[in-house]
Amino acid sequence: MKKISKETENRKFEHIKVCLNEDIGFKKKTTGFEEVELLHHALPELNFEHIDLKTKIFGREFDYPILINSLTGGHQESIKINRTLAQMAAEFNIPMELGSQRAALENEKLIETYRVAREISDKVFLIGNIGGAQLINTYGIAEIEKCIEMIDANAFAIHLNPLQEVLQKEGDLNYLGLLEKIKEIKKQLKIPLIIKETGNGLEQEDLQALKSIGIEYVDVGGAGGTSWAAIESFRSTKDSILANIAQSFKEWGIPTVVTTILAKSMGFKVISSGGIRSGIDIAKAIACGAELTGLAHPFLKHAYSENREALRAQLKMLTRELKTAMFLTKSSNITALKSAKKIFFGKIRQWLEFYQLYK
Ligand SMILES: Cc1cc2nc3c(=O)[nH]c(=O)nc-3n(C[C@H](O)[C@H](O)[C@H](O)COP(=O)(O)O)c2cc1C
Repeated sequence: MKKISKETENRKFEHIKVCLNEDIGFKKKTTGFEEVELLHHALPELNFEHIDLKTKIFGREFDYPILINSLTGGHQESIKINRTLAQMAAEFNIPMELGSQRAALENEKLIETYRVAREISDKVFLIGNIGGAQLINTYGIAEIEKCIEMIDANAFAIHLNPLQEVLQKEGDLNYLGLLEKIKEIKKQLKIPLIIKETGNGLEQEDLQALKSIGIEYVDVGGAGGTSWAAIESFRSTKDSILANIAQSFKEWGIPTVVTTILAKSMGFKVISSGGIRSGIDIAKAIACGAELTGLAHPFLKHAYSENREALRAQLKMLTRELKTAMFLTKSSNITALKSAKKIFFGKIRQWLEFYQLYK
């Protein structure tokens, strides 16, 4: 097994520093939520206080359809971040996904940077994580089982990040045979398996391929939120070829709205993520077919400074906005919100017409 733990550990912290200090969002491309309008009702015929935000997925009931998406692990600074986020996940009864556990597979001294989340509560729903690219040559089911055991994971996610791998000088560039590898893992895994993108979206053919091997859960990780090309452009030496290519690919990918609708149309249980920033975005994502919505970057700043009050306020704001959108769309619960009336405008409509999904 490759022993490159120091490099992995440093890279993890560099990503956090860049995300805390630089502007790493998409600039021109958007998620598409601004081109989805939920129809307003002046006669909701509901009592606001009775609106139910609970959702069921992975055989569990959560109080809100929000996932604290994968952010970190593998660096000493990750301990406080993961501890704080796990406290929020426990308090709000929402799921949390850990960062890639590769660093702990390379160096077991780093296990604590992930396990700290489980130490918060044995009830919190935790999702383990590893990169697909690392499964080709290095890891298999034995290492995934180690990752699961490390945090007593309730579900496991394999992330696909081909663009980011290409932009890293230490990136894993071989994706050949990954589908077959995922198929083998899926067969042997006893907990739910999620396949996720990290900000460039899952295309129809990718989704078809995942469907053909029996994948049920996808986190579409669409374009419009955190741009990994932007992050890597800050990490590369200025004016290097990689830095320039990272600049060129900053706006690459399938908008979150489009990839969410595609995945839903193919029968997946969908986690919508990539640029979800408000309770209205959450409502729109659910009306587009998501079961759950994931946010990563928005939680980083306050988790890093262990500002639990600010995180609580952020989650309260998101859930109150969502509830307001549900009131105004006559949606008494999450199931009702899934069929809320909506209109698509502009580019999103064009994308949907291309996939013959515009009705
Ligand atoms: C600092 C940072 C580290 C991340 N690390 C991982 C990771 O290890 N594994 C993973 O699957 N996704 C990782 N992600 C991706 C997020 O989970 C998410 O897919 C992406 O940031 C898009 O969501 P957002 O726009 O809400 O940030 C990371 C994101 C950030 C900002």
